[in-house]
Amino acid sequence: MKLLVTGGAGFIGSNFIRLALAHGRDDQIVNFDALTYAGNLLNLADVTSQAGYQFIKGDIRDGDAVRRALEGCEAVVHFAAESHVDRSIYEPAPIISTNVGGTLVLLQAARELKVQRFLHVSTDEVYGDLPPGSCADESHPLQGNSPYAASKAGADLLVRSFVRTYGFPAIITRASNNYGPYQFPEKFLPLMICNALEGRALPVYGDGLQERDWVHVEDHCRALLLVLERGRDGEVYNIGGGNPEKNLTMAKRVLNALGRESSLIEHVADRPGHDRRYSLDCGKIRRELNWKPTISLDEGIAQTIAWYKQNQAWIQQVKGGEYRRYYETYYTHRDVALQAVKACR
Ligand code: NAD
Ligand code: TYD
Repeated sequence: MKLLVTGGAGFIGSNFIRLALAHGRDDQIVNFDALTYAGNLLNLADVTSQAGYQFIKGDIRDGDAVRRALEGCEAVVHFAAESHVDRSIYEPAPIISTNVGGTLVLLQAARELKVQRFLHVSTDEVYGDLPPGSCADESHPLQGNSPYAASKAGADLLVRSFVRTYGFPAIITRASNNYGPYQFPEKFLPLMICNALEGRALPVYGDGLQERDWVHVEDHCRALLLVLERGRDGEVYNIGGGNPEKNLTMAKRVLNALGRESSLIEHVADRPGHDRRYSLDCGKIRRELNWKPTISLDEGIAQTIAWYKQNQAWIQQVKGGEYRRYYETYYTHRDVALQAVKACR
């Protein structure tokens, strides 16, 4: 089978391609990626020369390029997105353009070329904030609160509309916060690890008592392979790690593991509109596909820290000019950046 993976040079996409190739599941995997700041071919350096793997540089908003890449593909796994909540707050337009507009282009091309399975990779953030003690199953209303979450909810609804209107064979998955190797250090856990390794302050937004559910990227990718193979058309599957944790506790776990003082934690201005709590009910994928996470949070954090320690060259490469500019603007001058967001309200 020939599979098109969009966004395969990013964090989850690259882990997925590595796992899919190791499983020998697909005859051919085409990685279609625009190589934005978040896309990095180094993430796949160990599999690039493997038979059956092909890379095409392209943008999912470019219909002609997408159609060419889709030629002969039976299935699509769609990861490509602008994936960072904070960036979506500072500059929403590119996020909507790729996540909603790009998904529409891809859906249209995949339908035209009669793709038999389309797996749309989405997020628990589409369900919005959840009160303590509750969790969202797949029928929970979509209540995205950040421009990123809204864009993913918009894309999910487009996928749903293609299923309902055209009988298009698509499935949606919604995962909780992923962590593991190759994650760009703008996201919480790798940012905390990289800063702790350098002895820099760990910027925790607000009181740090916001709660996320953490799933190791390999567990997520194993679930995606199962859904691709045995999921039911038109269905939605939640994929969570069953590891609820407060941000502050996560930061302390990182510092403990590295033998650093908790005085490195610095509470900084909160994210505007910050969702307090996410939580998923994952009973459906457990019952239907017999999936459950296998990597404990203790084990996963230790493994992730070890990976970042051992991959300093990768860190230096991704922390190039764009990252430095981003960090300088939104962390060193955080109050100024947030004032600018407020002033535009
Ligand atoms: P990432 O930012 O690490 O990677 C995104 C990839 O998409 C990059 O390789 C980038 O170059 C590519 N890309 C961006 N815009 C593109 C475009 N217009 N055309 C082609 N390629 C483009 O993201 P990630 O963390 O690996 O997330 C992958 C997917 O999983 C996203 O759809 C995200 O919404 C979803 N997701 C992520 C998480 C998480 O915790 N990271 C959780 C649930 C769902
Ligand atoms: P993030 O990795 O951006 O994922 P998401 O917002 O999609 O859940 O952030 C995870 C949590 O960590 C979120 O509550 C925001 C918080 N956070 C910080 O406290 N400091 C930071 O520097 C970052 C990037 C995130």
